[in-house]
Amino acid sequence: MTAEESDDAVTKAIERRRRAIEAEWNELGTIVLVGAGDPIPIPGRADRVYPFLAHSEYFYLTDRQRPGAILTYDPEEGWSEFVPVIGADERLWSGDVSDEAGTPVSELGPWLEKRRGRRVAQLGAPVANVASDGAVASELRTRMDRVRRRKDALELARMRRAADATRAGFAGAVPFIAPGISERALQIEIEAGFFRHGADTVAYDSIIASGPNAAVLHHLPTQRLLGAGELVLIDAGAEYRGYDCDVTRTYPVSGDFSAEQAAVYALVLRVQRAAIERCRAGVEYRDIHLAAALEVAQGLVDAGFLRGSAANLVEQGASALFFPHGIGHMVGLGVRDAGGYLPGRSRSEAPALRFLRIDLPLEPGHVVTIEPGIYFPPHVLEDPEVRRQHRDTVVWNRVDTLRGFGGIRIEDNVLIRDGGNEVLTRAIPKE
Ligand code: GLY
Ligand code: MN
Ligand code: MN
Repeated sequence: MTAEESDDAVTKAIERRRRAIEAEWNELGTIVLVGAGDPIPIPGRADRVYPFLAHSEYFYLTDRQRPGAILTYDPEEGWSEFVPVIGADERLWSGDVSDEAGTPVSELGPWLEKRRGRRVAQLGAPVANVASDGAVASELRTRMDRVRRRKDALELARMRRAADATRAGFAGAVPFIAPGISERALQIEIEAGFFRHGADTVAYDSIIASGPNAAVLHHLPTQRLLGAGELVLIDAGAEYRGYDCDVTRTYPVSGDFSAEQAAVYALVLRVQRAAIERCRAGVEYRDIHLAAALEVAQGLVDAGFLRGSAANLVEQGASALFFPHGIGHMVGLGVRDAGGYLPGRSRSEAPALRFLRIDLPLEPGHVVTIEPGIYFPPHVLEDPEVRRQHRDTVVWNRVDTLRGFGGIRIEDNVLIRDGGNEVLTRAIPKE
């Protein structure tokens, strides 16, 4: 367990982040507004709102979850924070949040008025009634993302806490896996473990998918009971002080895999291990994805599900019928952290690349997920048009024997280090 973080460590981290961002932004000479955002009302539900999460760009620079707040940066003067005044009613319903000091947000108008004629750009959540230079905002964000992607010591300490709570959740839930338990019961067990071990919340809605449900990539838990001989896929993670963990494991419900399940599991695990091995500074994430796609294709040929050369199967989209997503994404401040494509790169429509969430070279300090999967989704595999299009490459009579198989995904979080990497989620068994 990592030591408790001190207020001083947080203050210093914020100072360092702001200095690093200033160094990126100053030459643009722009006034920058970074909005935290506002609570979003649930339509038709009176005063109910969705749980508030400050925009990641605001949170990164303030470590605060203050609705309605706006951080400003003037290269000539530095940083200021404008916050809504907390009235008696808010204190009554929501408690005392008065420690979150700043200038009343009503002062923002006069502050901007004093700087009239200078260029202003917005990041974070939009600030109403303030114009923003879109092209400059995009350049500011590109530069900020470069800094944000390299996790600092405070961020990594929080991610390790999130990973430890996630480990505890899996360890507590796995012994309950057996025929007759519901997806919901497993959700309760795993999330209880997260919270008991320090989680503030879940990183995202836990995915608990049994039997055929495991072919649905983001299946949410139901009262469905796990069946003997089935698989159960659990994709869940804890959040600690804004920082997330994102792990998937797939288990045999009855304790042992069938021969078919074991073969597919071994393939996914081999592909995942090889992809993790490739996670090194300087390596293009897209190349890690493409290598995994080729290995999935070759594995499916070897197992008798596909025929042809791996390269052709990837190019024609035959392997993407079974591996229909990217190899992963950046994780940290939010389950999808500041990933994206480098400027000048855009998403390819090629079947194997369509769902790639990030396209950039890895650097020390980046944290990515590596999460290959193989699925047998009925709505795809029973589509006559798909069967016609892939009649020569998919061995349909063999694939059809796996109706109801669901899918297998294995996911870990990998920190890129100088000369190698560290799997932050290695304490969660996958053998
Ligand atoms: N937890 C969703 C994902 O793995 O991206
Ligand atoms: Mn996941
Ligand atoms: Mn993920």
